[in-house]
Amino acid sequence: METGAKRFIDQHVIVTGAATGIGRTIAHRFAAEGAKVVIANRNRERGEKVAQEIRDTGWTAQYIRVDVAEPESINELIRNAISTFGPVHVAVSNAAVSETQSSALDLSVEEWDRIFNINARGSFLFSRACAQNMIDSNVQGSIVTLSSIMARSAKSMSGAYPASKAAVIMFTKNLAKLLGPMGIRVNCVTPGVVATEIWHEVESEMMMEKDTFADWLIEQSVASGQLLIPRIGQAEEIASAVAFLASNEASYITAQVLSVDGGMDWCW
Ligand SMILES: NC(=O)c1ccc[n+]([C@@H]2O[C@H](COP(=O)([O-])OP(=O)(O)OC[C@H]3O[C@@H](n4cnc5c(N)ncnc54)[C@H](O)[C@@H]3O)[C@@H](O)[C@H]2O)c1
Repeated sequence: METGAKRFIDQHVIVTGAATGIGRTIAHRFAAEGAKVVIANRNRERGEKVAQEIRDTGWTAQYIRVDVAEPESINELIRNAISTFGPVHVAVSNAAVSETQSSALDLSVEEWDRIFNINARGSFLFSRACAQNMIDSNVQGSIVTLSSIMARSAKSMSGAYPASKAAVIMFTKNLAKLLGPMGIRVNCVTPGVVATEIWHEVESEMMMEKDTFADWLIEQSVASGQLLIPRIGQAEEIASAVAFLASNEASYITAQVLSVDGGMDWCW
């Protein structure tokens, strides 16, 4: 979704989980608006590919490996990113994993920890490390976290993914409270249903064909009148909201949760 706006000229933007799906689209959006973008992902091959795609279009991007489940890996990411592009202006905490649809009664402790270490702890540590760099560099930057409609609904049978995404909303608000006086804004976007690889695990569990679950979920929601805009969401629509919140156009907005979900009414 090319808007022609150039709101991030020469700004340093880090996007975690930017090798695929929504994160990849967010990275493209910031780069097309003039930012120097770090593609932070644990998958080197796919991350390098996205950075190259962006450079091929004439914009600036660099892949840096991170596993957000590893605190030292996050510290190394921030060190490498700063030495590549200077102080951080915008941090987008997007990396996450989903889980199977298994019942909370069957969920193993290991699975709970895996989901929380990536989705909640990883997002918190990444956001906090970027905030510290903004403070140290006197940058009045912006942080955007990605939660999910699942954070506000008990629709899913499982326990860890929705709970981890609810945790993201709460620490986003707390960070916003702490950082507001320093001129750093922190907001959260909760996407609705977008067709990405995050659904692959659910598809395999439900023995559905790859890349069919998101469409199926939308069909169910439309049929039951639970979706005001009766279609699937596009990654570009999520990226637009993230870029808006990160930009000066949102200069008086902080501690907010913006739902970009077509009006899913099981989330109200
Ligand atoms: N697709 C949807 O319908 C949907 C709905 C609501 C919220 N979301 C949220 O949007 C964000 C993007 O998800 P997506 O749909 O693009 O899925 P995706 O699976 O395409 O993207 C997630 C990315 O995170 C990366 N990642 C996972 N674990 C990591 C780790 N430990 N360290 C570094 N990177 C890691 C993956 O490699 C992948 O590139 C997530 O926060 C997700 O929870 C997505």
